[in-house]
Amino acid sequence: MADTSLPLPPGSTIGILGGGQLGRMLSMAAARLGFRTHVYCPDPDSPAFQVTDRRTVAPYEDQAALADFAQAVDAVTYEFENIPSATAAALARTVRVEPSPSILDMTQDRYVEKSFISRNGLAVADFATVSGTAEIEAAAGRIGYPCILKTRRFGYDGKGQTRVERPADIPDAWSAIGGKPAILEAHVPFLREVSAIVARGSDGTLRSFDIAENRHENGILRSTTVPAGISAATAEAARAAGYRLAESLFYTGVVAVELFVVADGEDGERLLVNEIAPRVHNSGHWTEDACSISQFEMHMRAVANWPLPVPFRHSDVEMTNLLGNEVDNFAKIAALPDTRIHLYGKVGVRPGRKMGHINRLAPLRGR
Ligand SMILES: Nc1ncnc2c1ncn2[C@@H]1O[C@H](COP(=O)(O)OP(=O)(O)O)[C@@H](O)[C@H]1O
Ligand SMILES: [Mg+2]
Repeated sequence: MADTSLPLPPGSTIGILGGGQLGRMLSMAAARLGFRTHVYCPDPDSPAFQVTDRRTVAPYEDQAALADFAQAVDAVTYEFENIPSATAAALARTVRVEPSPSILDMTQDRYVEKSFISRNGLAVADFATVSGTAEIEAAAGRIGYPCILKTRRFGYDGKGQTRVERPADIPDAWSAIGGKPAILEAHVPFLREVSAIVARGSDGTLRSFDIAENRHENGILRSTTVPAGISAATAEAARAAGYRLAESLFYTGVVAVELFVVADGEDGERLLVNEIAPRVHNSGHWTEDACSISQFEMHMRAVANWPLPVPFRHSDVEMTNLLGNEVDNFAKIAALPDTRIHLYGKVGVRPGRKMGHINRLAPLRGR
């Protein structure tokens, strides 16, 4: 294995597990630093394949394909947290994999993840593990209504979760999530949602992007605004939460922490951690156009053991996702002033599918 205390030289190949838009943008950032990328994804239509030097189209369980991939790359990262952790662990026997595969085990299970967060002294919504209607009823009695039932595993973009308003909803809620092991969580009457996107280098260097404010529709991120409409103290607390989690995981790379801002007293604010994404994040796409370094370059630098610069945001920005057939308006959008458009090259439009995003820039008003 390469000496991990040295920076990976340009010309090296970084392997990326997962071929979605995040892999695509990671690959483009790596290319700017002189790296080659090798994307591994089972789906032959993956957007990242269009912008990578090498590709493997194979299931994540294909041991022979994984062995060849490990041979062909100098380091591995992932763009998707539902990569089987056994896949990442198998690769880690012969090649550097960052973030560490053990982090996948933790973030793939909402119960394990929430327990980890609260063990680290950070507040989360009340939660309980449940595996049947009787347990849901008992937990809801304690947590209170309304509450949210979420599958422990494989949820994303609001999928695998449903709201429970009253005891009579429980049987339908349980079947709506497919009767899978779940957590029941208090519904949080948040003022805002924000995210902390932080990076940690293998030498322990910590960096943070400005805190972003996120608006979701139907569980899918609609838009991100920076600066967030929160106090300086709340922004500092969000950053500190990101740093604490990155440090306690001995994390290498970019990690996103989603947080709820809730009212505290008359006009105070308090944070609850919602979830951790062990990867670059949709709410960090603004960094590509409004900051001296993007989350994608920051992540690739951390994986390659390069120096991590302090990010400098030079503009205010609003990122808006282009969902489903909104992408059909590309020509109109491309004519907007102060707006940069990013399209993912996806084959096939489906309602709610993330097809691209735009960053609308404005002069810096403050932090
Ligand atoms: N406990 C909660 N209270 C209020 N809103 C919630 C809660 N949990 C999730 N949501 C809403 O649903 C969105 C998606 O839920 P999240 O837990 O982040 O799952 P996903 O993995 O799909 O992103 C959140 O960003 C938030 O808007
Ligand atoms: Mg989320």
